Amino acid sequence: MNDNTILEFQDVWKIYKMGDEEIHALAGVNISIEKDSFTAIMGPSGSGKSTLLHVAGILDMPTKGNVLIKKKKTSDLSQKEQSLLRRKEIGFVFQRLNLLPQLSVLENVMLPMFSPYTRKAKEILKNMGLGDKYNRLPGQLSGGEQQRVAIARALINHPSLILADEPTGELDTNNTKIIMKQLKKLNEQGLTIIIVTHNQIAAEFVNNVIEMRDGNII
Ligand SMILES: Nc1ncnc2c1ncn2[C@@H]1O[C@H](COP(=O)(O)OP(=O)(O)OP(=O)(O)O)[C@@H](O)[C@H]1O
Ligand SMILES: [Mg+2]
Repeated sequence: MNDNTILEFQDVWKIYKMGDEEIHALAGVNISIEKDSFTAIMGPSGSGKSTLLHVAGILDMPTKGNVLIKKKKTSDLSQKEQSLLRRKEIGFVFQRLNLLPQLSVLENVMLPMFSPYTRKAKEILKNMGLGDKYNRLPGQLSGGEQQRVAIARALINHPSLILADEPTGELDTNNTKIIMKQLKKLNEQGLTIIIVTHNQIAAEFVNNVIEMRDGNII
């Protein structure tokens, strides 16, 4: 690992036991992600992409192996330290949007914070082209706009690492490009970004592609 490494996996396994069967969702993954890089993880359904992202975001712990975020081994940290590190360094965009339908756009973006961060949330939403839609409910937005709200929410804690699981999942080419251009801009401003994607157009915006098959990198 060099000084510029923000995220490192050292022989990381995630094994699920289902009765007598063992599922190797991650099977000895080694990766090293540089600060300020923009990475796409690609690969077929079930190859372990979401699992990798969840383990990287300390939403899940590996069965074996080490995950290091800014050189800190996540398994050495207490639960409290893990959640502090997660809140300080990581913004997560989930595969299924996870916007709360009964909260407004603005409230959804402020959600990860303890106290209301109205001004900051408004600024981020404005930068995402949603300055006129603060008070809508998610159900009153297009798919692409909802996806931008999910990204805005990942930015509210000013993270250094964004982990986004299929941020352009159900979007058409035009909206895919809008989202990817916005992510690219954030990357150029110094955010390290890892996305999972099946989409060739989305992959053209990144500078590093990781291919997964059967729980490993190929
Ligand atoms: N909680 C769980 N219990 C058991 N098996 C699981 C669990 N979560 C995931 N798996 C299995 O682990 C493997 C990897 O799943 P994962 O969700 O990481 O795939 P993926 O590459 O993100 O797929 P997709 O492109 O469909 O989202 C799959 O075989 C999946 O069935
Ligand atoms: Mg997935």
